[in-house]
Amino acid sequence: ICKTSMLCACCLKDLVLLSFSFTEQYEVVGPVYPVFAVAGEDVILPCSVKPNINVVDMRVEWNRPDLKDSQLVHLYEDHEDRNTDQIQSYRGRTKLIHQELQRGNASLKLSSVQVSDEGRYKCFIQSKSWSDDATVDFIVEVVGRLPVITVDGFDDSGGLHLQCESEGWNPEPVLEWLNSEGVSLSSETTDTHRNTDGFSVKHTITIHHSDKIHCRVRLRHHMLEAVIISSSNALGKCVLYCTSNYCVCMFYTTISLFTLLIILNQTEINV
Ligand SMILES: *[C@@H]1O[C@H](CO)[C@@H](O)[C@H](O)[C@H]1NC(C)=O
Repeated sequence: ICKTSMLCACCLKDLVLLSFSFTEQYEVVGPVYPVFAVAGEDVILPCSVKPNINVVDMRVEWNRPDLKDSQLVHLYEDHEDRNTDQIQSYRGRTKLIHQELQRGNASLKLSSVQVSDEGRYKCFIQSKSWSDDATVDFIVEVVGRLPVITVDGFDDSGGLHLQCESEGWNPEPVLEWLNSEGVSLSSETTDTHRNTDGFSVKHTITIHHSDKIHCRVRLRHHMLEAVIISSSNALGKCVLYCTSNYCVCMFYTTISLFTLLIILNQTEINV
């Protein structure tokens, strides 16, 4: 029994050290934040033991608790990889670096990432007398297709209805309208769908002045942009002829026929 608090702290420290050396207790730690990777790239899902003890003699299991049927992603047991019961889609794409296991690092290397790899992973490390696990959330980024701006026509006050749409993203991207000065314009309607192809977003806006309007779709470090330029101030009722790259607006007054050329431009920007 410790009589002073200083002695107590000292005794406790020794006790903790003793328990580590006898029962080989350890904590399995994963990343605090989700791991992101772009489809097609390789990724490392971090997992290690604290303190950094050698785990080569232990059992290291990576699995997917979020899947219903088969859950095994990678198994290392009795000093070798045993992946006969591995989920089919991971075949030949997982790797544990055995040298790293000596340093308490059981991170999983996953090559050519697929969308189906997205989900929750568990890294489970088991010794003869102890076991612990950590969770790793993995998100697969898919950069969608270039946004397309379409002109939906005019309203009675001369406002030009625009719609911007982009498909095939994962996870959900952010769509933003900007004017030529870079000021963000609020969308009138917003619509997000998810299907097997990923997320698609569609926003509409009405503009009342001739301007250069940008539609930006962003996901973390990726951004795709479409631009529409209306070249005339005289917006009125018209008939639109559109191709994928431009629209020609023929509009009528009692005396003449004007043509308003709207140029649509699509760009990919690396942020
Ligand atoms: C753990 O091992 C991986 C390779 O599997 C390596 O990329 C990573 O840097 C290692 N982590 C540490 C903390 O050493």
